[in-house]
Amino acid sequence: MKIVHQSSMKQQLPRLRPLTSPWMFNIMENTQLQQELFDTYGSPINVHDLPSFVGNIKEYLEILDTYPFKSQIFFARKANKFRNLINAAVNAGIGVDTASYQELKQCLDLKVQADKLISTAAIKNNKLLELAVQEGVLLIIDNQDELQQLLRVAKRLDTPAKIGIRVSGFAYQGKKLYSRFGFDIDTVEHTLHDFFRESGNKTYLQVEGLHFHLDGYSTAQRGHSIHQSLDLAMRLREQGFTVSFIDIGGGILMNYLASKNEWKTFQDTLQQALLDNHRPITYNNDGLGYSTRNGKVEGTLATYPYYNENSKASFLRDILETPDAHSRTVAQRLHALKVELRLEPGRSLLNQVGMTMARVAHRKVDATGTHLVGLEMNMSQMMSSSADFLLDPFVAFQARDGAKPAVEVYFTGAYCLERDILLKRKIALPQLPDIGDTIFFVNTAGYMMHFFETEAHLFQRARNLALPQKKATYGLKDFEGE
Ligand SMILES: Cc1ncc(COP(=O)(O)O)c(C=O)c1O
Repeated sequence: MKIVHQSSMKQQLPRLRPLTSPWMFNIMENTQLQQELFDTYGSPINVHDLPSFVGNIKEYLEILDTYPFKSQIFFARKANKFRNLINAAVNAGIGVDTASYQELKQCLDLKVQADKLISTAAIKNNKLLELAVQEGVLLIIDNQDELQQLLRVAKRLDTPAKIGIRVSGFAYQGKKLYSRFGFDIDTVEHTLHDFFRESGNKTYLQVEGLHFHLDGYSTAQRGHSIHQSLDLAMRLREQGFTVSFIDIGGGILMNYLASKNEWKTFQDTLQQALLDNHRPITYNNDGLGYSTRNGKVEGTLATYPYYNENSKASFLRDILETPDAHSRTVAQRLHALKVELRLEPGRSLLNQVGMTMARVAHRKVDATGTHLVGLEMNMSQMMSSSADFLLDPFVAFQARDGAKPAVEVYFTGAYCLERDILLKRKIALPQLPDIGDTIFFVNTAGYMMHFFETEAHLFQRARNLALPQKKATYGLKDFEGE
């Protein structure tokens, strides 16, 4: 048995080889274990390597430890629903950012301490507000209605609520950074001043800090937004508010791919395919964000930037080293002003943590002569919020046969939709997989596994399993369920 990527065909499709970890190959190279896992848990299965998760946490903690200012990390739990990650995060010394009543309740049921939890839910009903107030969990407040609603809840329960104020609309290069979330930075001071003029409001709603989360992956935008938040924090302190932290949300980049060249070649080839200068490399010649007009390619690649040189720790360092107009860095100001930095990374804490494995159900050739390989999984079980997940999958062939011809395939899923194509890229393989072979999609723990998972056709959701410890080889008993 041999693990193989793509074959060396004459007209090669561009490859996008992913970064991988040894634990993944440990499973990929053991076809017997794969059969046992499928027989026990069905297909697909999401495997999570907890030591990799803890390693990512430590990497951030180590960076932050090199700075004198106070800091806290909260794992953005929305990026992955697997319950076992909660204890792993807390035991590694960080908190959890929850985004719904259920996420918060689950953490409290797991006995996570209130000061290790925050709620950043986009929509907050009374049930969530009551739970957070009763348990003393800090809520990030998005708008005036939430302020009023929370005030009523806090008064009714006669218990003060801890809050952070979410802010947006930071100035950057002469423009405002638009967001549908938060209070506008240009008016928030006035709004808070008016709201808290009412005697008693400060007793029931205790402002502890400021929060923002930016779309996109610019370190400079984040750095300048922290500087503006620090300026706002100082003005609010002068008005008697306690602003002890600035929470900068998530969005720290991670790198999925091994080769910069492959990333570039893929984009070039995709554009050439759209211009008819190359055979299609995607299903229905999908431009993944690019389109053509008058013989020219327009638009941008609408996927996650899967290849990044500045990711994780270095990305964070760049934010902290961003200078303001007086050449003071973010790190220097946080320290001088005694403001705690809070982070809510989701995806980047899940770097190298997950792998989705699915069993081959059938093979066919469609009317255009294209091989379609049907997997026991559906599109919602590995779905990107962007145009596609651009990592080469791996195949574990039960019987590798060098005499068999190489093929190019699309992987198809179980939903009755023409568009249930698991990867939009055509994938070259050294031979056609057999029924029962295993296809592996690596590094899927951040958003890919769960965020869009649905139960159409009454399909059960995929089983989530954890590998709690690093081992030289794994057996069925090493995998823990929820
Ligand atoms: C408020 C907030 N915090 C944290 C995150 C996590 O971001 P990421 O997974 O990119 O680190 C998000 C993602 O949408 C968010 O909206």
